[in-house]
Amino acid sequence: MLYDDFYVKSLIQTIEDWPEEGISFRDITPIFSDPKGMRMVVDAYVHRYIASDITHIACIDARGFLIAAVLAYELQKPLILVRKKGKLPGKTISQSYKLEYGEAELEIQEGATQEGDQVLLFDDLIATGGTLFAAIKLLTKQGANIKEVAAIIDLPDLGGSQKLRDSNIPVYSLCAFD
Ligand code: PRP
Ligand code: ADE
Repeated sequence: MLYDDFYVKSLIQTIEDWPEEGISFRDITPIFSDPKGMRMVVDAYVHRYIASDITHIACIDARGFLIAAVLAYELQKPLILVRKKGKLPGKTISQSYKLEYGEAELEIQEGATQEGDQVLLFDDLIATGGTLFAAIKLLTKQGANIKEVAAIIDLPDLGGSQKLRDSNIPVYSLCAFD
């Protein structure tokens, strides 16, 4: 389905002062309850990556999982889960980080990536980039190369996407909010 920027943006609702005062929370929940919007978003990524040489898709807990799982199915690529601390069984490696409204720790399972893996890293939103940089540290520690970071929303004023580009990591987002 052809991507319509106005349509997808109209599905993203802004909740002021949530989860804390001063944060304009960009809520993607309505995309999931709108099959046309969901298809538009997934198709935009399928179109971009169908002919690329990515070998794996990695995605970030929790909202990042929702689109990335469908994309991995469509592109027939293995999916790597980057999870919040304490959720993955077995041996893990972890990385703490700061985000727009707090601190957290991410983990992947040991052996989740291997030397030479060409990874598309997916999350729903880029704000400060703290979450994505933590995920990149984990994935690259285990040998992967990050081909591109993809997100639905970029918040450029928070600087994350620029920091990623400054680190030579290509970034692709469907829309941006001031
Ligand atoms: C949100 C969002 C991104 C991150 C972006 O996740 O899904 O992962 O914040 O912020 P940053 O660029 O400043 O790091 P959150 O930790 O709220 O988790 P959730 O997906 O479980 O709601
Ligand atoms: N994650 C970090 N900042 C966010 C925001 N403003 N809206 C939604 N998710 C976020």
